[in-house]
Amino acid sequence: MQVLSVCGGVPLRGTAVIHGAKNSVLPVLAACVLCRSPCVLHNCPNIDDVESALQILRHLGCTAARSGSTVCVDASGMDACQIPPELAGKMRSSIIFLGAILSRLGCAELALPGGCPLGERPIDLHIAALRQMGAECVCSPDCVCCRAARLHGAVIALPFPSVGATENALLAALGCGETIEIQNAAREPEITDLVRFLQSAGAEISGGGTSKLTVCGGRPLHGTTYTILPDRVETASFLCAAAGCGGDVTLVRTDCTALSAVCSVLEGCGCEISSGRDSLRIRAPRRLRASRETIVTAPYPGFPTDVQAPMMAALLRAEGESRICETIFENRFHHVPQLRKLGADIALCGQTACIRGAERLRGAALHAEDLRGAMALVIGALQSEEESTITGIKHLRRGYDNLEENLRALGADVKCVEIC
Ligand code: EPZ
Repeated sequence: MQVLSVCGGVPLRGTAVIHGAKNSVLPVLAACVLCRSPCVLHNCPNIDDVESALQILRHLGCTAARSGSTVCVDASGMDACQIPPELAGKMRSSIIFLGAILSRLGCAELALPGGCPLGERPIDLHIAALRQMGAECVCSPDCVCCRAARLHGAVIALPFPSVGATENALLAALGCGETIEIQNAAREPEITDLVRFLQSAGAEISGGGTSKLTVCGGRPLHGTTYTILPDRVETASFLCAAAGCGGDVTLVRTDCTALSAVCSVLEGCGCEISSGRDSLRIRAPRRLRASRETIVTAPYPGFPTDVQAPMMAALLRAEGESRICETIFENRFHHVPQLRKLGADIALCGQTACIRGAERLRGAALHAEDLRGAMALVIGALQSEEESTITGIKHLRRGYDNLEENLRALGADVKCVEIC
């Protein structure tokens, strides 16, 4: 079994390279199904979820190959509309293929998606949107089947700006011969990136980045060459690691425009953050001040739920008491009992965590249960001079490319060891 060994207690100093965004490349890979000639995607992170998406594409009859950080997909030979449990169950993003396959072939059959255990994670908003376009969807406890002889125009008002439901509705809408309007659409940068990719393939979409998307579908898309935007969650994770440990870290090949909510919290805790054209530099004191304001997760441009766990870890030693409220997922505190093993003082009251800064943290044997929680354990362990071990690192492999090497480039003592 692979275990991450971490010995911390030192400031982080140096430069780390940020990769393409997991939550952008995955819907873009699903969208390639709509393109009748090859797509070339640059800046694709080398992570397990991308490999899972490539396996799904090959299962559907597409060709999909990687060369370094470039992925080439040719969906011209696509001849299947089913995704079996062993592929769909590996990640949440498999559900985004539903709208794309339905749009392309008029039928789709998917086993229910996997992904981080953050709560129930239903797909009712996805299904409701497809039904509004005329799809017949039948949901059973372990799979969903959709058929649509013809998808028609609709005004889809999402009750919540769901990222996945927005992506599914967008991809299905491209198969409609009429205009589709998606109201209360998610505004995350990854949605904007998906819109830009589709536009580069010939799609007629307006409103990317706003809460109203208008799609004039019905025409096949052509192949394109596209560069995936930098991963804002990876960037925020490294900012939190530097803030928790202290030091002076520069992140390159990133996009500093999408992290104002995270940067303002860290600056309020005593960090100095400066940005270049495609870089961010953070200088952090040995010990942060606690966050004066309660950190509340919210849909973009609010504080990202994916940064809730890394930020909690950054605040474990902050002087004073910080509060974090999780409003997006009902069960996203799996990392709390693990962080307590390090000596962290965290009290949970419903969806709010209260962190009282500890003078020192100890080493511990930790276990990760989800992707961003796993990163929080790494950040927590990096703040103790004692050794910690982390199991469940398969979660890290799903979403962080080259993590150990990047952390070692900053002076961290992190290594992956095999234990029997
Ligand atoms: C995407 O998940 C991201 N995943 C998540 O990142 C991210 O945390 C989330 O958006 C919010 O920003 C990918 O993009 C692959 P939602 P998604 O639909 O689409 C409820 C990571 O760590 N909901 O916006 O699943 C849902 O249960 C991952 O990279 C319904 O009730 O998020 C949740 O409470 C974790 N019915 C809330 O909405 C639905 O049909 C937000 O979900 C859909 C969602």
